[in-house]
Amino acid sequence: MQSENKRKPIVAGNWKMNRTTDDAEALAGGVVEGVLGLNGVEVVVCPPFTALERVARVLEGSTVSLGAQDMHWEAEGAYTGEISAGMLLTCRCRYVILGHSERRAYFGETDATVNQRLKAAVAVGLAPIVCVGETLEERESDVTDQVVRKQITGAFQGVTGEAAQTVVVAYEPVWAIGTGLTATPTQAEAVHAFIREVIGQLYSVDVANAIRIQYGGSVKPGNAADLFTQPDIDGGLIGGASLQADVFADIVKAVP
Ligand code: 13P
Repeated sequence: MQSENKRKPIVAGNWKMNRTTDDAEALAGGVVEGVLGLNGVEVVVCPPFTALERVARVLEGSTVSLGAQDMHWEAEGAYTGEISAGMLLTCRCRYVILGHSERRAYFGETDATVNQRLKAAVAVGLAPIVCVGETLEERESDVTDQVVRKQITGAFQGVTGEAAQTVVVAYEPVWAIGTGLTATPTQAEAVHAFIREVIGQLYSVDVANAIRIQYGGSVKPGNAADLFTQPDIDGGLIGGASLQADVFADIVKAVP
């Protein structure tokens, strides 16, 4: 599919289960300073739930947005340990990561529950960052496209084209997460273009061209520019390298 790029790139830091509230506040402050004046890219930080409120205060008046790392699909109720979309909104979150491979691998997340979460998020105006990606075994068995198609189709089931355009997709090959192995720009671009094609089939070329698709998996300042300059790669979802403000800012600066 011809990719008509009017999309604003988005670089998000997924802090995972790292940083106490004090440390999160300091890290967020460093990110705000580090990306000052960079207007061509949207920057998001996703701290643990416990730090959302404090980080929201640090981000006030800045161009950096707040995201959470997960949420439940119900609005409220007897779901011990869970957090709802409405709760995230009151913490001033704009984004929420859904279906991260760590949630899928360790906490039983499935395409069906990612879909429930996605629908609950868009219903209240939270923008999901939906993660998809194949394992090493799947890549070696040459089923990457099938796996990613199933994850995308499952996540967007029953979602209108209008709501779909607010969703960010993060392609994160599982074998590249935290391993130091990065997909080559060519490998990543191929899957990104494929994801856009699948979205085009589910909706329309316009919706496909509007949706931002991030790359995630061992992105560092040294490899970010080569990835971010690919036509279908609209920024990145950064794990380990988002835990140091200057390193994260260098990655943001790699956006063309
Ligand atoms: P790393 O950048 O540490 O490989 O993690 C990527 C990731 O999982 C972001 O969600």
